[in-house]
Amino acid sequence: MHRTHTCTEISETMIGSEVTLAGWVHRRRDHGELIFIDLRDRYGLSQIVFAPQYKEALDLASQVRTEYVLQVTGIVRARPEGMENKNLSTGKVELLIKGCKILSKSLTPPFEIDQDKALNEELRLKYRYLDLRRERMKNNLVMRHKIVKFIRDFMDKEDFVEVETPILIKGTPEGSREYLVPSRLYAGKFYVLPQSPQQLKQLLMVSGMDKYFQIARCFRDEDQRGDRQPEFTQLDIEMSFVEQEDLIELNSRLMLEILDKFASDRKILDKSIPRLTWKEAMDKYGVDKPDLRFDVQIVDLTEELKNAEFSVFKNAVKDGGVVRALKVDGGAKFTRKEIDEFTEVAKVYEAKGLAYIIYDINGEVRSPILKFLNEKEQNDIKVKTGARPGDIIFFGADSFEVVCASLGHVRLACAEKLGLMDDNVFALCWVTDFPMFEWKKEENKYVATHHPFTSPNLAHLDFLKKGEYGKVLSIAYDLVLNGNEIGGGSIRIHDSEVQSTVFKALSITDDEAKHRFGHMLEAFQYGPPPHGGIAWGIDRLIMILQKEPNIREVIAFPKDSKAKDLMTGAPSTIPDVQVKEANVKCVLDTLKQ
Ligand code: AMO
Ligand code: AMP
Repeated sequence: MHRTHTCTEISETMIGSEVTLAGWVHRRRDHGELIFIDLRDRYGLSQIVFAPQYKEALDLASQVRTEYVLQVTGIVRARPEGMENKNLSTGKVELLIKGCKILSKSLTPPFEIDQDKALNEELRLKYRYLDLRRERMKNNLVMRHKIVKFIRDFMDKEDFVEVETPILIKGTPEGSREYLVPSRLYAGKFYVLPQSPQQLKQLLMVSGMDKYFQIARCFRDEDQRGDRQPEFTQLDIEMSFVEQEDLIELNSRLMLEILDKFASDRKILDKSIPRLTWKEAMDKYGVDKPDLRFDVQIVDLTEELKNAEFSVFKNAVKDGGVVRALKVDGGAKFTRKEIDEFTEVAKVYEAKGLAYIIYDINGEVRSPILKFLNEKEQNDIKVKTGARPGDIIFFGADSFEVVCASLGHVRLACAEKLGLMDDNVFALCWVTDFPMFEWKKEENKYVATHHPFTSPNLAHLDFLKKGEYGKVLSIAYDLVLNGNEIGGGSIRIHDSEVQSTVFKALSITDDEAKHRFGHMLEAFQYGPPPHGGIAWGIDRLIMILQKEPNIREVIAFPKDSKAKDLMTGAPSTIPDVQVKEANVKCVLDTLKQ
């Protein structure tokens, strides 16, 4: 070993003893006669002192720069009175250096490692190995390890078996675009990278594994956002002979144990974990992953305002849409500019505008649309929303989908503005009873809301048979934490007749089904047990636990927001011979990109 102790292992009990430390020069203060260095390793800092009585070491220390790697031998001594550093675990002692060796030199880093300040993210990603030297990032990785280990231990105690599934597979039908891997041996054929181990874990149920889990890497070629990465990690779970309640029970317990273990200083609003159906979530919060840390709700006023003189409302109802209102307590103080910002948010979600009524603190009611509303309508609005002086009401009048999405996101924007998104509070909920199918206008067909192996609600089989696909709900459930979808899963179909009806609803022909999932259909002829599962987004969970604003902060080597690896330069061109060997022809002139 290059050291006898780590930088945080020296303490008052060791005063007088000789130790050898190795680490990076975190900070250096040169007083000429005396040089102080904070030496850093993964565990923390130790102050080391170079003094004239060990001249050779002092001379060397004067050449040292930040981020050099040193090996130092010295005597532990108490810091002089008044010089202790209460913020450091080793703050009462220091090491008087007798001998020093420079193990390696460093260029001046492109950003400061010893300070926790906002840095250019591009630079951080390019020099990620330096970024990871920073305390906050190092902590994120260490905590990530601890949380994943805790999860593994929990699953092990519950008798789950971790099984690794392949990364080179055949396409999975989960909705996202897949990453393709060309086959060298079979020209014109491709593997794909798994969007999740969905099919494989179901096949493990057919094989009798009973309780499977995996900390699994997943790959999705989709547009990036703060809570999405092209490759991310799931806690993937599948169980046999279970129903929705069994999965909800197990996963609720795991979630509460994680919060208790890793964030016991924060408040959980409702440990019984409230349940909402998808419809309730959409009606009250406008989104299927409601943030329940704040009690701002949407209210339906379609009936009350369907005959209003205001044509926006009237026409929306006439076209089969809805009129809904979002009351924000204390929102009367929003400025014109802030209301414009909220209107822009609504427009992102295709709303044509964002009408509002302000109930001033002094009792005055102000709104550009007041003149189009009669007394009864004005009164209904006030009563139904419960608006009081100091509040604001925003309106959405459009199709159900547009009103939900726009008011749902205005709700979040208002909460953010009013500081209601307290990251010391946890609000969990389960969202259940999702629609089985979603109508895709562009494709002129139904697609699976979850994936095609999700079981319909068995009470809705008749709708399914009659082709009333819009009415079919599924046995699917999402676990939501502070407005983030942490996990999603479902009970699966194990009856081949139901499966073929679902394929029919999804316009998947027998031939296509055979081609795409023949292996599944075949396996399901050999006694598949009833089964179900769920997958958690591990990165998202750790992001919230670590109070980070996006998942890149909790991934060692993430891609940037445009799916690039700024450190290695991936994706990159590769030599022509390699391209040829992979049986790939590039259609674009790669040099022009
Ligand atoms: P789903 O697609 O809902 O379900 O994914 C499960 C969870 O994974 C997380 N997640 C992501 N995290 C980071 N970046 C991404 N691009 C990303 N996409 C998803 C979310 C999400 O809740 N096979 C099914 C699960 C099942 O049915 O058992 C599945 O993958 O937190
Ligand atoms: P206009 O009549 O277009 O000037 O709109 C009057 C008010 O209604 C403005 O505050 C608009 O932002 C708002 N508004 C317009 N269309 C809608 C809509 N579909 N839903 C909610 N508010 C709207």
